[in-house]
Formats: sequence, structure tokens, C-alpha cells
Amino acid sequence: MDTKRVLVAYGSKHGATAGIAEEIGATLRADGYDAAVLPARDVKDVEDYDAVVLGGSLYANRWHHSARRCARRNVEALGGRPVWLFSSGPVDSSAEQHDVPPVRGVARQMERLHAREHITFGGSITASTPGWVARYLVRHGEGGDFRNPERIQAWAHHIGAELAASP
Ligand SMILES: Cc1cc2nc3c(=O)[nH]c(=O)nc-3n(C[C@H](O)[C@H](O)[C@H](O)COP(=O)(O)O)c2cc1C
Repeated sequence: MDTKRVLVAYGSKHGATAGIAEEIGATLRADGYDAAVLPARDVKDVEDYDAVVLGGSLYANRWHHSARRCARRNVEALGGRPVWLFSSGPVDSSAEQHDVPPVRGVARQMERLHAREHITFGGSITASTPGWVARYLVRHGEGGDFRNPERIQAWAHHIGAELAASP
């Protein structure tokens, strides 16, 4: 049987979500998939892939614009293949403690794309994150890197297992 091809596409402003996408891609590769990791804005089409994982960071309760646009541009093709969505946001441990549901716009995308599942991962704002908001938060002790590689890997393994079970 041919190796299944999986696209992991992400919308990221300062790199935190890109890091999550890379972790998902590396885990899927370790599980035997041919996984490509691309910025969502560079995704022309998804025809070459058997499955897609699409993620974006959250800003003011909205998914990163390039993740939204990628979903819109490829709505038909995505609807015809297995799709998983993720968000990267909370700069605290809330995503570790309980399931953080998708924001309204992402919930709509889930329906539109018939996505199998959505997960929210903790995000990251550190001293190296550009912008005055980040600087302000870090200065007031509210930053941190809340991405948890083990949780990200566990979710990617779960995707791998579902893909292995589907025809
Ligand atoms: C101005 C600003 C607004 C943010 N708004 C939200 C939000 O509404 N919900 C949330 O969970 N996280 C929010 N965050 C946290 C980011 O989503 C988090 O830092 C994320 O990991 C950034 O990922 P990126 O570097 O890939 O863009 C916000 C961060 C900033 C700087």
C-alpha cells in the first residue's frame, strides 16, 4: 500500500503555532506517514494529500487569518478528505486542565469542512515575541510557553491511528 500523504498547514504570527505544526508533522512521519508542514498561506490546493491537519493561533478570539483563508479557499477539497483542526492560544495551563472548545469561527469551520475533531493547545508568549502586547504581558509576568510537546505528540499519534484504521 502507498504511504498516505498528510498536510499539516498552519497560520502563525510569531512562530508558536508553526512549532506545534512541526511537532505534529514529525510525529506523523515517525508513525510512517509522508507528512508535509506548510504555512497555510502557501497552500495552493490539497489535492495531493490524503488527509489534512489545519491549525491557527488565536487573536482576539479569532483564528489566524491565513488558516481561515486556507479553509475557505479549499472548502470543497477539504470536505472530501479527513480533516483535523487545532488552535493555539491560551497562555496559561487551561488547555491542559480541560478541553477548551473552538472559538465560534473555528466551530463554524469544523461544520463546513466536516472536520473530525478540534483541539486547543496552550500557546506561547515569551520575551522574544515581538509586539507591545507581548512585551507588556511578559513584563507583568503573564507570558510563558504553554505548548506541551507530549500532548501535541499524543494528538498526532491519535490522528495517525485513525488514518491507519480508515481505508
Ligand atoms: C494581541 C494578542 C491577542 C491574543 N488573543 C488571544 C485569544 O483571544 N485567545 C487565546 O487563547 N490566545 C490569545 N493570544 C495568545 C496567542 O494565541 C498565543 O500567544 C499563540 O501561541 C500565538 O501563536 P503564533 O505565534 O503562532 O501566532 C493572544 C496573543 C496576543 C499577543
